[in-house]
Amino acid sequence: MKETELRQLLNDLTLDEKIGQLVQLPGYFQNAGAVTGPAADMGLTEEDLRLAGSYLSIIGAEKIRKLQTEFMARHPHHIPLLFMADIINGYRTVFPIPLAQGCTFDPELVKQGAAIAAREAAAAGIHVTFSPMADLVWDARWGRVMESTGEDPYLNAQMAAAMVRGYQGDSLEEKGRIAACLKHFAGYGAAEGGRDYNTAELSVRTLREDHLPAYQAAVDAGCEVVMASFNTLDRIPSAANEWLLKEVLRKEMGFKGMVISDWNALEELLAHGIAADQKEAAFIALRAGVDMDMTSPIYIRNLKKLVEEGKVPEQWINESAWRVLRLKNRLGLFERPFRDADEGEEKAVLLSDGHRQAARECAEKSFVLLKNEDQMLPIRGDEAAFIGPYVDHPYLNGAWSIFADDQDTVTVRAALARHPRTRNVPTAPGCPISDPDQPVLGFQQPVAPDSCDPEEALKEAVDLAKKADKVVLCLGEHRECTGEAASRGDITLPKCQLRLLDEIARANKNIAVVLFGGRPLDIRPLKEKAKAILAAWLPGSEGGNAVVRTLLGESDPSGRLSMCFPWCVGQLPVHYNHLNTGRPFRGDYHAARFGSKYQDIPNEPLYPFGFGLSYTGFAYSSVKLSADSMTKKQRITASVTVTNTGSREGTETVQLYLHDLAASVARPVRQLKGFRKVKLEPGESREVAFVISEDMLRLYDLSMRFVSEPGEFEVFIGPDSATDNRARFTLLDEAR
Ligand code: BGC
Repeated sequence: MKETELRQLLNDLTLDEKIGQLVQLPGYFQNAGAVTGPAADMGLTEEDLRLAGSYLSIIGAEKIRKLQTEFMARHPHHIPLLFMADIINGYRTVFPIPLAQGCTFDPELVKQGAAIAAREAAAAGIHVTFSPMADLVWDARWGRVMESTGEDPYLNAQMAAAMVRGYQGDSLEEKGRIAACLKHFAGYGAAEGGRDYNTAELSVRTLREDHLPAYQAAVDAGCEVVMASFNTLDRIPSAANEWLLKEVLRKEMGFKGMVISDWNALEELLAHGIAADQKEAAFIALRAGVDMDMTSPIYIRNLKKLVEEGKVPEQWINESAWRVLRLKNRLGLFERPFRDADEGEEKAVLLSDGHRQAARECAEKSFVLLKNEDQMLPIRGDEAAFIGPYVDHPYLNGAWSIFADDQDTVTVRAALARHPRTRNVPTAPGCPISDPDQPVLGFQQPVAPDSCDPEEALKEAVDLAKKADKVVLCLGEHRECTGEAASRGDITLPKCQLRLLDEIARANKNIAVVLFGGRPLDIRPLKEKAKAILAAWLPGSEGGNAVVRTLLGESDPSGRLSMCFPWCVGQLPVHYNHLNTGRPFRGDYHAARFGSKYQDIPNEPLYPFGFGLSYTGFAYSSVKLSADSMTKKQRITASVTVTNTGSREGTETVQLYLHDLAASVARPVRQLKGFRKVKLEPGESREVAFVISEDMLRLYDLSMRFVSEPGEFEVFIGPDSATDNRARFTLLDEAR
């Protein structure tokens, strides 16, 4: 529709019809116009349902075509509905969780995964996905770390932009594309104490420097929708934060699309204690810039009254309704209300061989080898016994894979049975996946404990371990231990799994652990007792195949940690890009009594950001700079030569970090500014160069200007964030 026609349509709408566009109803209200159950509880009328702008979580080509047809027939202006859903790491073909995707350090691969998710979801009738989640995460207690791409602003920015491009393609008109909704704006990942929905206390400088870049990258990549976060920021819930949504998001960041609240967040303004009643909540949220109300009765029940009483100018409603209509138009819904919803296409693309293969590749590239002593890995196959609750556990998708069928997931056991080298390996569960006294709370209800008898299972496993040359132990948290509303104060493995580890270690010293789960855990006992540890996260539909291929050496683990593994929970929040403090602690724990440290644990995490081994080894030359000083207009090339020192081909992720030694505000000890993946044959060397330009040296100065300041900088290039391979250069003061 031409913009003039769309304007005309908006002009033709009554106030009720415009307010209807601002409302998103949950999918379970879907009886196409009849007010029953939850819709009745919310006080909705048939008219409200008839005028709604959008539905969430309805999926399936046939269902959506039918609903769209019925709704448009009943709507006075035949305005199509917008169908949105959480397509987070795939629709039916499930990719690894986003935290694992971050570990690929491969934005192109992540983009391809998002494109596949879009293709499947588009065929199933979806128009917009609530992804990417670009929230920065420094606290592994927070259950939603699994949905983030990690602890680093630069990496998150690359990944958020890649996902937007994957979903949306070059144009929303292309077949198989869906619009992206960036979330949760802003600072949701900074929940105090790692407790979901909790307050975020961030300085404006930290917000701008660490949290905003990934959101900005998604906006720059053209994402169509932004979701306001649940949390307060500076004591204001985002759905009520006019400064955040208008000044920062729209004016500074240049976002032009539609803003939606999070689930029921407008009603929650009452619980936050910033609205006395529903009417005030409606006023505050609309004024702040929330265009669409996700699933609460606030807009639908209050906006009309507010306009009639002269408290809300109708112009505010017009502006928000315009943004909703504009999105529908950008999606071409007025001409193609079903877009790509097509049952034949669903059959052709969902879980197609190509999609499965892409999911497997992504999983393999997300695996992080944390330890590998005595060349425990790779295994031949026939010398190993596979033990542990994750050997045959089908829940390899993250908690957000709500539309996937677990029966489509290849478990480790199924993959072993298919592979000629492992067809006959013995397997045993060893123990239940979680402790009976620590029930796992799923999103909706407690998860039924698995049925294996702990004592019998343990005995069977130990017997197997005694007979085998090597034991592959498949351990980890239940998938429902991470995700929304799944924060945990204890991030150790379940007691039954630790007991299994102890008993197996007594029987056989050659243990390789494959670790599953949605967060970095406290894995000190694993580090002590296992010779190898492979972090496999929640690898998705092809998880089992990816794990088996990797263990057999058919794929080299090339993932690098997108979030560090903390030493223990007491260290949280922890991140490599921290400030130095006035008393940086180095070296001897007892000598530096008044250094910034703990008495009982180190400052450093167990495994740092960016860390990961390969089946081969890599050596780095020292850092070479093309000059030792530069003006703001000049550039310096920093390079290293990387050599594959092992006997197999492998892929290294070469990482560049910068550090401003003295500035007007305290600077992080180092910050990731670039990375490059290089595939090297045994003995092969390659020079890897990064160009350093002035924009990479900027900071928010005393007056909150984003500028670089002359002085000395350190350049680190190495395999992870703890590298000591460094050089120095000076940014010259041109005024002098
Ligand atoms: C979550 C969002 C999600 C929305 C819709 C909320 O509870 O915070 O991330 O997109 O529900 O399902």
